[in-house]
Amino acid sequence: MKTDAKSLPNLKEAANRTKSPIQITSAKSKPSDALKSWAKGRKYCIYTYGCQANVRDSEYLRGYFENIGLTETEEGTEADITIFNTCAIRENAETKIYGELGRMKQPSQNNPDMIVGICGCMMQEEKPLNFIREHFPYVNLIFGTHNIDDIYPLMNEIIERKNRVISVKSIEGDVIEDMPSKRFEKYKAFVNIMYGCDKFCTYCIVPYTRGKQRSRKVEDIVKEVEELKAKGYKEVTLLGQNVNAYGKDFESPITFDVLLEKVAQTGIDRVRFMTSHPFDFQERVFEVMGNYSNIMPALHLPLQSGSSEMLKKMNRRYDRNIYLDLVQKLRKHVPDVNLTTDIIVGFPNETEEQFEETLSLVREVVYDSAFTFIFSPRPGTPAARMKDETPAEVKKARFLRLKELIDEQATYTASKFVGQIVEVLFDTVSKKDKTKISGYERHGRLVHVDGDESLIGQIKKVKITSSRTYSLMGEIIDDWRRSSKSWSN
Ligand code: SAH
Ligand code: SF4
Ligand code: F3S
Repeated sequence: MKTDAKSLPNLKEAANRTKSPIQITSAKSKPSDALKSWAKGRKYCIYTYGCQANVRDSEYLRGYFENIGLTETEEGTEADITIFNTCAIRENAETKIYGELGRMKQPSQNNPDMIVGICGCMMQEEKPLNFIREHFPYVNLIFGTHNIDDIYPLMNEIIERKNRVISVKSIEGDVIEDMPSKRFEKYKAFVNIMYGCDKFCTYCIVPYTRGKQRSRKVEDIVKEVEELKAKGYKEVTLLGQNVNAYGKDFESPITFDVLLEKVAQTGIDRVRFMTSHPFDFQERVFEVMGNYSNIMPALHLPLQSGSSEMLKKMNRRYDRNIYLDLVQKLRKHVPDVNLTTDIIVGFPNETEEQFEETLSLVREVVYDSAFTFIFSPRPGTPAARMKDETPAEVKKARFLRLKELIDEQATYTASKFVGQIVEVLFDTVSKKDKTKISGYERHGRLVHVDGDESLIGQIKKVKITSSRTYSLMGEIIDDWRRSSKSWSN
């Protein structure tokens, strides 16, 4: 098969930050007649890895596919076009993809028309792209995070010319406003408020794979939320790699608190946002959170390390005291806030004392839960070039100590919900038992109750009866002055 390598990634180039202003444009790609007739009666499947940015990108791809008449299947081996939307954040995110791709070998041989595609952050890196190019000849479509809107012409090339196509732009493009999209959920929606990241934390690949920071206009975001509300959506999560830098890239900059307030004023039932970066944090965000009951009392505030020296090496732009001060201000404005975080253990040459500083900060703050990671060197990032003499077993042991502390805190903070009445937006029926349903309460805790699918999309009051580390169990009450027992009698 001939390969048409239209463009290949280059991580060095991707680190460039141009001053040129970002244009807001419309989706350009139109399906050809040949593509539309190919799609008739055929199926697509998308496997999504990584963060919410990828989930949203997969929703765009679903929109493009459904618009030409493809129907979705959950099994990639049965589809005519199967896409792997990949993540590059840690090495294990990448290695698992190779095994998954292997499953497509046989089906692609049985169905010579099959398109096996791979996209997402991993394809923005030279090494994995070349590895796939060499070792997986049946992967015939490779594209990146900046050219989702090219999907139709790329598919066309495979269908009409039987070419293998590789098209990965290193430099971000414009903000495209009206890409088609088919969302995964009916009541909760992710809304991008910005793309890319300019922070360049030394361990992180995202600024290379997602390009420079580009904020969407306030009007476009608010319009999207209003449309979602009109369609019956109950919850939006505003998405950005660091939402506190929202609007800094505008010619007349605005700040995130302004946007957050406007979104809350749409009156949608629930507003969440992620991820916040402690740098760029405006205290006014806390005030806005405290002032609007439809902004959920939850904040994900990545710490990464409790040691100021480590934070400096990570280029995080805050230190231990600034972080602690922020937490104090947050709790002043939103006393019942659910505080969660991300922590990296084993950054190059982290000492025992520096690790202990992370433990002591965690003890001081008390988190509701946390994602903890062992540092994974990402080729092309500054931290991957740093000498690192800490043995892997030491890192693993630290990771386990931290995990134990976090689990202890999560168990304790969950137990405080027992006896309380919470509001749950139900979204999932248990796969194993159709009489069990779950959803999230305002703070973001997962709650399970007895109930059926008629509750999906509804917000109900639930009395919490017991707790586990990462979930709560309860009973629905129609009137919280009566106990659930008398209600069910
Ligand atoms: N933009 C978000 C985080 C996105 S990545 C923020 O700045 O908070 C999610 C988390 O993955 C990070 O917070 C970090 O804890 C972790 N992470 C990122 N790169 C990593 C690496 N190279 N090794 C281990 N963990 C990493
Ligand atoms: Fe990565 Fe830092 Fe940007 Fe988050 S803020 S995406 S950790 S570079
Ligand atoms: Fe992964 Fe890319 Fe998100 S690297 S975490 S999918 S921005």
